[in-house]
Amino acid sequence: MSPATHGWWRSAVTYQVYIRSFADGNGDGIGDIAGVRTRLRYLRELGVDAIWINPWYLSPMADAGYDVADYRAIEPLFGTLAEAEALISEAHEHGLRVLLDIVPNHTSDRHDWFQAALAAPPGSRERARYLFRNGRGDNGDEPPNDWRSCFTGPAWTRTTAADGTPGQWYLHLFTPEQPDLDWSNDDVRAELLAVLEFWLGRGVDGFRVDVAHGMVKAPGLPDVGYASLDLDDNAVAFVWDVFPHPHWDQEGLHEIYRSWRALSATYPEVAFVAEAEVGAIDRYARYTRPGGLQQAFNFPFIKARWDAATLRSIIDETVRAFAAVGAAPSWVLGNHDLPRVTSRHADGDATRGARRARAATLLMLGLPGGAYIYQGDELGLPECEDLPADARQDPIFHRSGGTLVGRDGCRVPLPWSGTEPPFGFNADGATSPWLPQPSTWAALTAEAQEDDPSSTLALHRAALRLRRSHPGLAGERFSWVESAPDVLHVEREVGFSVLTNLGPESVLLPTGTTVVLASGPLDGIWLPPDTTVWLPPDTTVWLSPDTTVWLSPRDAG
Ligand code: GLC
Ligand code: CA
Repeated sequence: MSPATHGWWRSAVTYQVYIRSFADGNGDGIGDIAGVRTRLRYLRELGVDAIWINPWYLSPMADAGYDVADYRAIEPLFGTLAEAEALISEAHEHGLRVLLDIVPNHTSDRHDWFQAALAAPPGSRERARYLFRNGRGDNGDEPPNDWRSCFTGPAWTRTTAADGTPGQWYLHLFTPEQPDLDWSNDDVRAELLAVLEFWLGRGVDGFRVDVAHGMVKAPGLPDVGYASLDLDDNAVAFVWDVFPHPHWDQEGLHEIYRSWRALSATYPEVAFVAEAEVGAIDRYARYTRPGGLQQAFNFPFIKARWDAATLRSIIDETVRAFAAVGAAPSWVLGNHDLPRVTSRHADGDATRGARRARAATLLMLGLPGGAYIYQGDELGLPECEDLPADARQDPIFHRSGGTLVGRDGCRVPLPWSGTEPPFGFNADGATSPWLPQPSTWAALTAEAQEDDPSSTLALHRAALRLRRSHPGLAGERFSWVESAPDVLHVEREVGFSVLTNLGPESVLLPTGTTVVLASGPLDGIWLPPDTTVWLPPDTTVWLSPDTTVWLSPRDAG
């Protein structure tokens, strides 16, 4: 058995539990472990294979838990270590694997190590675990280089010495409360490896690696040259999008990941997925080479426009690039950092957005490889675009002085049941959810969708059930069938087709076709715009070899 072609992660569907917004067990308005435990049955019935839980470690919450003060302790807002252990074993009893979110690029400024570093002198072992540097210019008043925070503003903050005089600067690619670790330091490498083992010993099945492309910095911390790029100071996207870049995608990362993957000698099933935004798809695939991590989130796919040519080339490139390194491709349509898929593709029309999101989901789940579902996307939740400023908590919103809206709009607590907020997120009469839920979500609760066969929840359940059971979707086979330009036509196992119409016109389906699943109503023998269907092998006679006849736009024929 070759490890390159086996492994549960190669075809798993992983559901992202954004814990503070999933379910609130103790009524304080913030989701927690107790809440997740009450909803494991829902996740099993949904039909996913694994859950990824966003950071639940001790944290002062400068960045919603991505500022970790102790990697071995559970944040009291979320629960206790005993509850975490209970959740892991109960998830396993439900047949769900559990991935944690490991945050290795930075700690919280409240982490013991950083507090010790602040108290210790320049040049000390304590400071060497982070990136402390003297400033440039007279009296060291200028930051050590021109790097910018991904959350706007400079990436350096100056410390104050015990006697009140200005001291060294430290690097933080995110907020000042998230100092970057120095990954050339042996203490750092040993500690994070020990943290992984701590959680593996408690039964977790793997990790999502936060900012997996950022831990290693180019020697000497050279300037990016932002000044010559003439950027707006608030251009967050620019920090993410400049390549090559001295703090992104450095070669030295892969040695760290090989050392992590070596944990599979003891934990053969351990899986890692990289959150690495690295430009070209070939760069993503490098994270999943043999002996490295197993998956990398497909940001080109999530960020693609709703356009057949764009998606075709991204899907094509993904399948090719990951196959070239022996990894399975993977797909994702949403996460806690990006506007929800229903709104991303709406083009000003919410109904269209919802229809496209359903079509995109059926396309994604019809492709070979792994897939990730962001909580609430299975309910078709829209982005909450009109949250009041005083409710918003994302540091991006606050650091940009409100010029950047930030990520709260996709983080609004889930509606489970009932007709008004808190929609079963916690008990009626409990503290209001930490972000307000729109009253219009009454129609979108899990309860409201439960028995409606045309609901988005029902579509997800049906698709996930078929993914597990239908031989047409069993393997990793993938090929394109020639189609009209606005149509994507993928063939999986011989004769099983996944067909998405991204154009403005309906296209003709073959007469007599038994559609196994459709993302929306079909118009008789026509596949309407923004709709995906799964077609079983008995339709191959129609599809092959000449598909162009029935796939032409209605008015072209
Ligand atoms: C990742 C996380 C994001 C967080 C950032 C800093 O991009 O997904 O939520 O703010 O890393 O840790
Ligand atoms: Ca709570």
